[in-house]
Amino acid sequence: MSIKVQEFHKDYERWAWQINNNISYAEDIKMFKLDAKNTSYIFGATDDGYLIHGYFGKKIEDGDLTYLLRLEENPWTLKTNARDKGTFMDAHAFEYPCHGTGDYREPCLIVMDDDGMTTTDLRYVSHKVYGGKPKLEGMPATFAAENKAETLEITCVDKHTGLEAVLVYTAFNDLDVITRSVRLKNNGKAPLNVKRVLSACVDFDNDNYDFITLNGSWARERVMERCRLHHGKQSIDSVKGESSHQNNPFMALVSHNADEDSGEAYGFNFVYSGNFFAQAEVTQHKYTRAVMGINHFDFNWLLEPGEEFVAPEVVMVYSSEGIGAMSRTFHDLYREHLIRGEYKDKRRPILINNWEATYFNFDTDKLIGIAKEASKLGIEMLVMDDGWFGHRDSDNSSLGDWFVYEKKIKGGLKYLVDEVNKLGMKFGIWFEPEMISPDSELYKAHPDWAIQVKGREMTMSREQYVLDYSNKEVRDYVYGMMRNILDSANIEYIKWDMNRQLTEVGSTSLPKNRQRELWHRYVLGVYDLMNRLTTDYPHILLENCSGGGARFDPGMLYYSPQIWCSDDTDAIERLKIQHGTSICYPVSAMGAHVSDCPNHTVGRTTPFSTRGNVAMVGTFGYELDVTRIPQEDRDAIPGQIAEFNKYNPIIRTGDQYRIGNVFEDNMWDAWIFVAKDKSEAVFTFVQVLGRPNYRNRRIKLKGLDPNAVYKNSETGECHSGSALMNAGIFVSTHGDFSSKVIHFIKMS
Ligand code: GLA
Repeated sequence: MSIKVQEFHKDYERWAWQINNNISYAEDIKMFKLDAKNTSYIFGATDDGYLIHGYFGKKIEDGDLTYLLRLEENPWTLKTNARDKGTFMDAHAFEYPCHGTGDYREPCLIVMDDDGMTTTDLRYVSHKVYGGKPKLEGMPATFAAENKAETLEITCVDKHTGLEAVLVYTAFNDLDVITRSVRLKNNGKAPLNVKRVLSACVDFDNDNYDFITLNGSWARERVMERCRLHHGKQSIDSVKGESSHQNNPFMALVSHNADEDSGEAYGFNFVYSGNFFAQAEVTQHKYTRAVMGINHFDFNWLLEPGEEFVAPEVVMVYSSEGIGAMSRTFHDLYREHLIRGEYKDKRRPILINNWEATYFNFDTDKLIGIAKEASKLGIEMLVMDDGWFGHRDSDNSSLGDWFVYEKKIKGGLKYLVDEVNKLGMKFGIWFEPEMISPDSELYKAHPDWAIQVKGREMTMSREQYVLDYSNKEVRDYVYGMMRNILDSANIEYIKWDMNRQLTEVGSTSLPKNRQRELWHRYVLGVYDLMNRLTTDYPHILLENCSGGGARFDPGMLYYSPQIWCSDDTDAIERLKIQHGTSICYPVSAMGAHVSDCPNHTVGRTTPFSTRGNVAMVGTFGYELDVTRIPQEDRDAIPGQIAEFNKYNPIIRTGDQYRIGNVFEDNMWDAWIFVAKDKSEAVFTFVQVLGRPNYRNRRIKLKGLDPNAVYKNSETGECHSGSALMNAGIFVSTHGDFSSKVIHFIKMS
């Protein structure tokens, strides 16, 4: 690491920035400056060791930035006026606020000591800077090569208890991204109980923001909501054991005037798949405190002397060019620095999944029938969904019995897979590894393996319980069964489902004083198994799923390059779901299929072409009985596949610009994907409802090279990028739910 030293003089003091690649620090006065691509993040430590936040936003030059800490405007700055420390504590912008010493805003850390006291007071002790980014043990996190990012670790100590907290920051070179996580260690002599440990806090010194979150329910996940911040606390969370259908672990603070293309946006996304908490709090001084981390609700972690706890990572993205640029930064980050494995940069096989085609009513012959027809049309993989194991004919049994249901899978799994392979297709399979049905061999043998509170009724949901994944024995056993299946035939894809939330959260294998750790230990157990699976079977494509999209989060993306977006496959509902999801997740990760009509969830009938055009902005596949759909639809499939193949490289790897917004105007939607080198673009328009006596809609494209000339595949006309973006194109389609795709190719 080369260190440049920039020297300058302040009236009364001489000091210097030590400048590394992304991180500068001034040793004498303990100032830290993290520079990502066009972003700066600044904080410093007072003489007493309090970490004061200074700035987060558009990049600024090094220089005398001590004024940003606003210490001089506070006459009660600790050294000079200890008699009013309280005012200081409740007014200042802190990097990692603790509980109990006068900051009454939301704290990041509450630790109870052996005397039952909950006051915690962390002070700066030391720091180090190094290239690259560390792994988080046993947990997902973004990654970066040494020359792509730089990391700053700030070590703080609570002298009273001996608790050490290491605040870990990474700034990325080529992206406006700063990540944060926290490592706790009990260096004291007595046990500690961590009651809360959030991963990040940013104290903004104004309240001029709107709060954007992604909320919903089953079949309508990640609907974008935006509201003005107001005094008090606005929060979202999950207490369900997974990231949830209801709130995604994402929030953004954006300037009131921010839209897709302009204004400031700060996005926060939690790389975690369990209970989370995210909040923006407007305080008495009209500051805004944004915090994010593991939900402290029903959480406690015993930290014996010498033990460590690692809090997961928060990704923070800054954009000075609107919400669209914020989204594109998330997309680039996740495609390059989170998603892994063989399919990271590859087009995914076009699959056909039998769930909506057959539900539980299938057997070998039916599946082969579907595969035969599908293979003729160009579909590349058959996915056998729920119902192939134990004695499962409906959702009331057999979870945990991961052996083949011979009555349905006649001739065995290998026979079926071989037959499908003979058709030139790959084969994929569904598992729900975290679950156990009361009606199962597994439950008969190990009733204590289900999550439960002894002596209390166990709440059933979808007639199933959840396995205690904090228990390694349970995980090993389930994994053993999965391996038997995976080793028995040529399986090239897994859909990992999770169809219920946690209740009566107790473990028969944890001691009393560790029971409240189960929420988090459960998630760590899931990560452990996904890690084993993806390590042992690197060729298998893993798709996550949770009753549709209840676990669409960055934690899962670390293990699976794609996640089933929603059980709602209706093309019009998907406009909202996929728009909301794209706020922070790339379309390359969005499981999206063409299904049959009337749609099983909403009963709507949409044109087959629109279903294809919407699913194409995702992993693409089919979820229907291809032997039974109308001939006309079947005939359209090869053309749809050809289009998908043609456009997928741009859609999967290019820059996404949202043009329409179905949340604001429910009549239409549009988007464009532009190749990174701006040589071509794919534009999609969807008309929700047809309107009488309106002229063609003028739509302004985005993201093109203004000086280049592009050819419009629909009209054959050539226009400059500046004309297409500033003056727009005229688009018309006829009929409700109609749509079109236009390809723009750069001519010169
Ligand atoms: C969940 C999934 C569906 C399907 C069913 C099977 O609801 O989201 O796609 O796999 O489970 O039970």
